[in-house]
Amino acid sequence: MELDELISSKLLKNWPSFLICLGLFWILKNVIYKRSRGPQRFTLEEPDEEVEDLEDLEDELQPALEEKPHVAFVPGQNLNPNGAERFYQLIQGRRSIRSFRSDPKPDLSVIEDCIRAAGTAPSGAHTEPWTYCVVEDAELKQSIREIVEQEEFINYSQRMHQQWVTDLRPLQTNHVKEYLTDAPYLILIFKQTHGLSKTGKRKRHYYNEISTSISAGFLLCALQAAGLSTLVTTPLNCGPALRSLLKRPTNEKLLILLPVGYPKIDCTVPDLERKNLSDIMVTF
Ligand SMILES: Cc1cc2nc3c(=O)[nH]c(=O)nc-3n(C[C@H](O)[C@H](O)[C@H](O)COP(=O)(O)O)c2cc1C
Repeated sequence: MELDELISSKLLKNWPSFLICLGLFWILKNVIYKRSRGPQRFTLEEPDEEVEDLEDLEDELQPALEEKPHVAFVPGQNLNPNGAERFYQLIQGRRSIRSFRSDPKPDLSVIEDCIRAAGTAPSGAHTEPWTYCVVEDAELKQSIREIVEQEEFINYSQRMHQQWVTDLRPLQTNHVKEYLTDAPYLILIFKQTHGLSKTGKRKRHYYNEISTSISAGFLLCALQAAGLSTLVTTPLNCGPALRSLLKRPTNEKLLILLPVGYPKIDCTVPDLERKNLSDIMVTF
């Protein structure tokens, strides 16, 4: 029998096994392809509610804010001569650090002032869609660390694509996060996808992620002004578990986790350069 006759007769006889092999090949190919592309949503959380969930609100057409006469604007004080230049000097010294001392522990009142400052941020339709959870309890920090390290191990080994892991190499990060138990405070910033009006109705939080991110930026500046260090972290896939741990409601989605405190004496940071003004600003 010729070779091609042999192959076709075997194929014909064994067509069920051939189909199974084809199916297995297809599944394997898709698994490898998905893993090589990494996760499709680079988010900490499950998706926000569908817009349809909130559609019923449109029936009422009442503003979420009280309608009252505007008041005179009192311009902010210029506390510093050359304020912008001095602010730049302050903020250009900010660095992300990943090695924290457990003590001294900053006063909680300082953290409160920083969060007060964050709470002055603008927000879409003045919805103020943020919650700042401050954790100082050692056991709770340990639980947070366990959740994050477990997920980050999977993130680094499976969820993040190879280019991503490679891009992180200069920062020398990995799934081990000692700072989550070393830092005297952890601040978990949640965006609220919707809120409740005074009458107990669900109200929309427009642009809640942008608003909360701007507020978080205010917090970073305030922490810097207070002489404290921090690190913006966005641990992938940890949101639901951390939200449950802190018993937060489901309309709150974890956006950022910040360890806050002072750097260890021997703390080092990546040798980074910043873009020049001419690279980030275009004048017309
Ligand atoms: C949105 C965002 C997410 C980040 N996520 C992480 C993170 O998960 N882990 C981490 O170690 N650093 C994280 N960083 C810190 C950056 O790596 C750091 O800001 C960057 O390398 C620049 O360094 P610098 O903050 O010292 O200027 C994040 C920063 C931002 C703004």
